Amino acid sequence: MHMRQLGSTDLQVSAVGLGAMPLSLEGRPNRNTAIDVIHAALDAGITLIDTADVYCIDERDIGHNEALIAEALAAWPDGKDQIVVATKGGLVRPRGDWVPNGNPTHLRQACERSLKALGTDCITLYQLHAPDPNVPLEESVGALADLQQEGKIRHIGLSNVTIEQIELARQLVEVTSVQNRVNLFERHYFFTGVVDYCAEHRITLIAHSPMGGYHHHLRTRMEPALTEIARRHRCSTYQIALAWLLSLSPWIVPIPGATRILSAVSSAAAADLELDQQDTNRLHAAFPTERLLS
Ligand SMILES: NC(=O)c1ccc[n+]([C@@H]2O[C@H](COP(=O)([O-])OP(=O)(O)OC[C@H]3O[C@@H](n4cnc5c(N)ncnc54)[C@H](OP(=O)(O)O)[C@@H]3O)[C@@H](O)[C@H]2O)c1
Repeated sequence: MHMRQLGSTDLQVSAVGLGAMPLSLEGRPNRNTAIDVIHAALDAGITLIDTADVYCIDERDIGHNEALIAEALAAWPDGKDQIVVATKGGLVRPRGDWVPNGNPTHLRQACERSLKALGTDCITLYQLHAPDPNVPLEESVGALADLQQEGKIRHIGLSNVTIEQIELARQLVEVTSVQNRVNLFERHYFFTGVVDYCAEHRITLIAHSPMGGYHHHLRTRMEPALTEIARRHRCSTYQIALAWLLSLSPWIVPIPGATRILSAVSSAAAADLELDQQDTNRLHAAFPTERLLS
């Protein structure tokens, strides 16, 4: 498995991570199957698992995904120390909705609860899930800085942010990662320069929803450019979608979700796929990523 640097830290993570969210949402697989999916990802060489306190059905179920990962890791024999579990705080789930809450008091409570659910005394990568329009970003990031100083979190990440928001946060803390929605069909963060900015500043760009998102991933199967290249490489269109992302920057780490073992294993294998010039030209023509000048 190819590895990638995690920000400016001394840590490396697998070039493809596991997005654990679908294992805890409505329609989720049963617990044993979910744990089997996580184990299959780890066995295939994945060392980054992305989670959040709010990966669950609603407010009564907070921490479902984190507890699942803790259980899977406890039952996994080898190399637990190599695994980076990245969680997030800053959203709440009233009646199953997704609502920002970047209030420092909430972030502290959320972090304490995540520490318990994960069964650890320090979270390796803690990400602000999204800026809260009702709370100045400096206050939310300030809360994460305090948690870091207290040793409850080791590294800080942001999610769903613009360049301006990253720059504001970097005045207060070292930003290790930025987790934004980046895939073949949603290239906004290429056009606005966030992907380049992260590479220039040694920030890992964790690409969430890399297949188009949990509810829309089937479109990854239907793109002619993908089917053509996948046929040549004797692999799946999903694997080409990941190889495309990996080819665009050494700082991108996609975190595809999976509810089936097959998906997790196939995504892990995509980290070793090499696209040739013909492939990248074809993909570039179908899915351009040039930054748009503002
Ligand atoms: N920060 C944020 O705001 C935010 C928002 C959304 C998501 N995320 C994170 O990003 C992760 C990924 O996003 P996502 O799960 O919404 O969407 P996604 O990764 O774009 O798509 C997930 C779906 O694609 C299918 N899939 C994935 N890899 C496959 C493969 N190699 N072959 C065939 N099918 C494959 C899976 O199908 P099966 O279910 O059949 O296995 C899975 O349910 C989440 O799990 C979460 O950790 C973060």
